[in-house]
Amino acid sequence: MGNMWGTGIPVTVDEKLLARGQERYQINCQVCHGATGAGNGITAQYGLVGAASYHLDKYREMADGEIFNTITHGKGQMGPYHHIDVNDRWAIIAYIRALQLAQNAPSKLLPPEVAKASTKP
Ligand code: HEC
Repeated sequence: MGNMWGTGIPVTVDEKLLARGQERYQINCQVCHGATGAGNGITAQYGLVGAASYHLDKYREMADGEIFNTITHGKGQMGPYHHIDVNDRWAIIAYIRALQLAQNAPSKLLPPEVAKASTKP
């Protein structure tokens, strides 16, 4: 409602959903947002700049519902992707959350040998 967005993913998030989200992300979003979601997809080389990097605090903190809204209706320079099945939109959001975690994981979630080599808390 207005600027208030619901958060939480209203479908079961499991390995199957994440695999589906990864596949749908690679097909629909990666071309602009890049494989890791850093906003550096191949289209940047052809002049389409400004695709958001999901690794900004702003997007880490953004409600799931607002991302759903962006996929559905587009935003600014990004067109709408309402042809993507509703369940698949949630799968993509779950996968974006996995991409965000992969680039910003707290050391307690890392395997010990990786955590030891990491310079970040
Ligand atoms: C054709 C290139 C393109 C594709 C494909 C694309 N995006 Fe975007 N996306 C953009 C651009 C450009 C922006 C920045 C929009 C702006 O601020 O004007 C953006 C912004 C966003 C944002 C941030 C919106 C905000 O509120 O600031 C999210 C989230 C996002 N895209 C998700 C997705 C998802 C999920 C997909 C796949 C379903 C996708 N995008 C596909 C170009 C693209």
